[in-house]
Amino acid sequence: MEQTEQRINTLRRELERHNYLYYVQSQPVISDYDYDMMFKELEQLEKQYPMYADPNSPTQRVGSDVNVEFRQVKHQYPMLSLDNTYNESELADFDARVSKELAAAHRYVCELKYDGLSVSLTYRNGELLRAVTRGDGIQGDDVTANVRTVRSIPLKLHGGGWPEEFEIRGEIVMPRQVFEKLNIERIEAGEAPFANPRNAASGTLKMQNSAQVAKRSLDCFLYFLLGENLPATSHYENLQKAREWGFKIPFYASLCNSVEEITQFIAEWDAGRRSLPFDIDGIVVKVDDLSQQRQLGVRAKSPRWAVAYKFPAERVETRLDSISYQVGRTGVVTPVANLEPVRLAGTTVKRATLHNADQMQLLDIREGDTVFVEKGGEIIPKVIGVNPDKRPADSVPTQFITHCPECGSALLRNEGEAAWCCPNDRCPPQVKGRIEHFISRKAMNIDSLGEGKLEVLYDKGLVRDVADLYGLRREQLVGLEKILTGEDGNRRKIAFGQRTAENMLAGIKASVQVPFERVLYAVGIRFVGETIARKLARSFKSIDALAEATCEQLTAVDEIGERIAGSVADFFSREDNLALLQRLKQAGLRFTVDEDARGRKSDALQGKTVVVSGVFSIPRDDIKKMIEEHGGKNTGSISSNTDFVLAGEKMGPEKLKKAESLHIPIISEEEFYKLIES
Ligand code: IVH
Repeated sequence: MEQTEQRINTLRRELERHNYLYYVQSQPVISDYDYDMMFKELEQLEKQYPMYADPNSPTQRVGSDVNVEFRQVKHQYPMLSLDNTYNESELADFDARVSKELAAAHRYVCELKYDGLSVSLTYRNGELLRAVTRGDGIQGDDVTANVRTVRSIPLKLHGGGWPEEFEIRGEIVMPRQVFEKLNIERIEAGEAPFANPRNAASGTLKMQNSAQVAKRSLDCFLYFLLGENLPATSHYENLQKAREWGFKIPFYASLCNSVEEITQFIAEWDAGRRSLPFDIDGIVVKVDDLSQQRQLGVRAKSPRWAVAYKFPAERVETRLDSISYQVGRTGVVTPVANLEPVRLAGTTVKRATLHNADQMQLLDIREGDTVFVEKGGEIIPKVIGVNPDKRPADSVPTQFITHCPECGSALLRNEGEAAWCCPNDRCPPQVKGRIEHFISRKAMNIDSLGEGKLEVLYDKGLVRDVADLYGLRREQLVGLEKILTGEDGNRRKIAFGQRTAENMLAGIKASVQVPFERVLYAVGIRFVGETIARKLARSFKSIDALAEATCEQLTAVDEIGERIAGSVADFFSREDNLALLQRLKQAGLRFTVDEDARGRKSDALQGKTVVVSGVFSIPRDDIKKMIEEHGGKNTGSISSNTDFVLAGEKMGPEKLKKAESLHIPIISEEEFYKLIES
């Protein structure tokens, strides 16, 4: 028996090594045949001796046919995104800011900006424990089963010296060749092709069947190590170490000491990127020294120590057939260019945004013009200029519409704003848009109402506002049907059977459990996005307190300025909004922070009073939130009631003295994580 176990371990080690040589180093040393023989032997042994099963065995890389729903997992460290720059002068601004803040010598690491989707991998004791997508940056989908099938991701690390537990982040990409082959297969099978390798990678990683994922040849480049006890204090050196542990860390990164060197790096890759086997959409510049990174800190969604430089977008010329006008959820009217279809960055473009009246006037865009169209990343293509040489002799200047194309109201323009708006908040797109926003994933997450069903309910007059959803009855729904015409011109029939109706009602009913912060986001107060809604909910704790808050109280909250405060006050001053909130309250939605039940992760800190002081590897607000999530209470000053002080770097000397004099325990960030994990 012992011999069997030994043989299994040897085979696993060998297979993982060959896997690494093939997929990470691109230097296989054995034939495919020999690899397959070893693989089969291991598979056979694992089948025969199930007690030696291991989720990180190389045999698990083929995935499983069992469909899984993704569990939502909270990131230990939020997954931030990057601010973009587009030219040398913006990069110079970034460097100036960094230099000013640090007032010390610093160097940068320049890396490629891989165009895929980011994942965070957690390793414990040298083995892959978990893989989570970015999601909203705070929590994402647990895609571990799918990630195990990505051959270049080590399931067990090589060498040694890694921290007991750490995270490593990177980008899952689909190489261009794989993408092209996949699309040919899809078209042959009558399926819609993916627009670009990034969408293909993202669609693949979110498939529920990992055996299918395994067949798609995804790759993964790692670029960011996080955790306690990292091997080095330099980002660059940490990556070199991570490479030794078996991660695919491309050799493209380069240390730079000045904006000139950064620009040089950019120029090289702007020219060279088309010969890479995968897509990149820019480069990333990071301050190398970790303590300098901490010193610079982070904003709500992006670090201050890094920035992206985006390559100029691809551009084509085509004819502008006509201009139409779209009314959005907030009433903003957007002019849209209907174009002679043209290929651009891998997709066919038929429509592009013209932004607003000012922009149209500035460019003097006219129907019949030949225009330049650009596409940057995932964003909707835009018209960026007119070719004057190709303007027809009989062309006439464009007049922006004066009345709403949906409801006929005269359009208005707020002072200082570029957009013309339909002032009628009963205008159908606004009404539908508000409901769509309300049910969206990050708001109430009622996905049983998606895919055109809401459209039907609206058109049949059953739903005129979000509170109507909670009064829907089964008998009103069963048997409803409607033919919808999609944007692509295709028609499809939506019909409500018993099952659909029941599903829908169950989804609506379940949504009353959604926590207050998301309800607050869902009701659609202007300028109150997810992050702001969260901050408001945590500060004011209930809708009633928020409704009564003065402008001063509102602006006292971090990141809330006068614009947002004004919008919040305006929202609560309107009778119709108050009436709607009243009806939602009656439907049972949460309008207070439920400190006890929801969001509670454990009782590890039950009854403990904690003082947080100093600088941490994550924003201090997040630390405080964690304390609450685990049952603890935050207070500002140390007293004999304090159970412990959670000290980051640079804890204030006064606090230190006081804690010591009162014999209050001081714990580190690392110890804190251990405490709440236990
Ligand atoms: S670092 C806190 N490095 O770009 C820093 N990101 O626009 C987090 N990306 O969400 C990111 N290549 O998905 C970093 N070499 C690289 C990258 C990279 C691609 C992606 C990543 C991130 C997005 C930000």
